[in-house]
Formats: sequence, C-alpha cells, structure tokens
Amino acid sequence: MDLQQIVDDTWNALADERGCGTPARYIPALAEVDPTKFGIAVATRSGEVHCAGDTDEPFSIQSISKVFVLAQALEREGLALWDAVGREPSGNAFNSIVQLEREKGIPRNPFINSGAIVTTDRFIGDRGPDEAVADLLAKLQNMGRDDDIGIDERVARSESETGARNRSLAYFMADFGRLLNPVEDVLSVYFRQCALALTCRQLADAALFLAFDGCDPVTRERMCSRERTRRINALMLLCGHYDNSGEFAFDVGFPGKSGVGGGILASIPGRATIAVWSPGLNRWGTSLLGARALAQIADRTGWSVF
Ligand code: DON
Repeated sequence: MDLQQIVDDTWNALADERGCGTPARYIPALAEVDPTKFGIAVATRSGEVHCAGDTDEPFSIQSISKVFVLAQALEREGLALWDAVGREPSGNAFNSIVQLEREKGIPRNPFINSGAIVTTDRFIGDRGPDEAVADLLAKLQNMGRDDDIGIDERVARSESETGARNRSLAYFMADFGRLLNPVEDVLSVYFRQCALALTCRQLADAALFLAFDGCDPVTRERMCSRERTRRINALMLLCGHYDNSGEFAFDVGFPGKSGVGGGILASIPGRATIAVWSPGLNRWGTSLLGARALAQIADRTGWSVF
C-alpha cells in the first residue's frame, strides 16, 4: 500500500471543497483563521509522517487536548478518576449543562467540556496551575519530538474572555463538591490546554502512543499503560465527537477526537495516527472536510476498526 499516494489522492479529491462548513465563532480568535486551510498527516510505526496540504502550520487543537490530558490524569490519579467522571456517551452537545444537575455534578465522559474540566482538575492535582501547564507542554514537546510546540496565548485569552459557558459548568460542578482545586485555577489550565497549537505533523506524531499500546513506537518510551491506552481509544470511539460520535463511527470507523479549531485526531490501533485540519465545522463541532478526508482514507486503506 502506497500511503503517500493515498494521502495525496485524498487531499486532491477534496481540495475543491476547501472552505466548506462553518468555523467556530464563539471563540473570537478562532474566527480569524483562513477557512480554506486543509492538511492531512498520517504517522506510522516507523515515525514516518505522510503529509499533504497545510500540515506544517500550527492550529488550535482545542478539544483534541482532552485526549492528552486524560492520558496524563490517568497516569497521576489511576482508577480514582472514574469516581469523578463517567464513561458513557452523553447524547448532548459538548458544552451542554442539562445532565449535570440530574447526575449530581458527575459528567458523562471525559470529552464533553464538563468532563474535561474535571479531568483537568485531577491532572493538576496538588500542583499549581502554571506547573501543570508547563508539565503538559513538556510532555507534548517530548511526544511530538519538537520543542516548537507551544500555547497560543491569544486564543487562550480569547477563550477565557468569552468563557461564560465553561465557567457555568465548572462552578456548577464545584457546588456539588466535584472539583479539588479553585475553579479559576482549573479553568486557567483548561483554557490554555485548548489553546495548544500544533501542526498536523506534530499532532499525528505526538499521538502515536495511542495507536501503539501506550508506547512511542520509535523511541519505545512508555507514555501510558497498555490497558489505559485501550480504554482511551474506546472512549474516543464512543464519545470523541459528542452527539456526532455514532455518525463518525458509521462513516469512518476510527477512534477519533475532534476540536473546534477544525482538527481531528484519529488513532488506528496497530497501524497509524492521522491528524487532519480544516476549520469549517458541522453542527456538532467536527471538521466537515476533515471527517470526509478520514472517511476516504478509511475506504482506501481498509483500516476501519470494524
Ligand atoms: O471549551 C470549549 O468550548 C473549547 N475550548 C473546546 C470545544 C471543542 O473543541 C469541542 N470539540 N469539537
């Protein structure tokens, strides 16, 4: 199988659709990104990355960061994390608050915003927020083998300034006693993790541990235990696209995680990771062209997990 050819063919087949979908506007800094950007990067066991399009331009990974923070929170907190957050699809929008009251401040899963905020709280643990952010950044730079990976402080500020919904979720959970750290400390880490800026190439590379049992297949360094990695993939498949997860599994068949910056990270266990980027979103916050690209790659490679 000629992977580079598949990546090139997929990019070319979809190039005319660049600009489709609607970029996120509720975080003002994201609305300024060129909507015609389109990149595809496929990283394999050897560390080789097959790229087409805009794969060397950093973009805001937004909710894709929730996967990395979950892996780190599990390493710190172990099974106790599951007392604070569930493992079921929510069937609601990523920023919905409706279930939280009925379910006593315990979010359905670590990928909806409420669940991610709790996960970030446990990732911080007994450290200060800045120490936690520095630790996360260092881990990503190590996993992505690139010291250039950073945080877009403008996006982080923009998100904080317009963060009424996330503040509501966090204070609501705090009222149920579900957060261990001060709410604003937790949010300051959450906003900064969402503002991590990576290229498709860096993202596919940094996520390789997800597809290879928790180890970086190039350096053999362990990032996460085999069991936890298996479970993170399960959650990505079931909850990675919120109330669009069923459709994504149906069309694509890879564990994946979307972000409102227009990125999607897919993990294909035993084979590869794929990062795609196109800012226009569907109504559930998943990149429209990105999902189409992944569906084509799934067809052309036969890599669907089903
Ligand atoms: O908290 C938020 O609303 C954003 N920082 C992240 C949301 C997001 O990426 C949803 N994913 N598609």
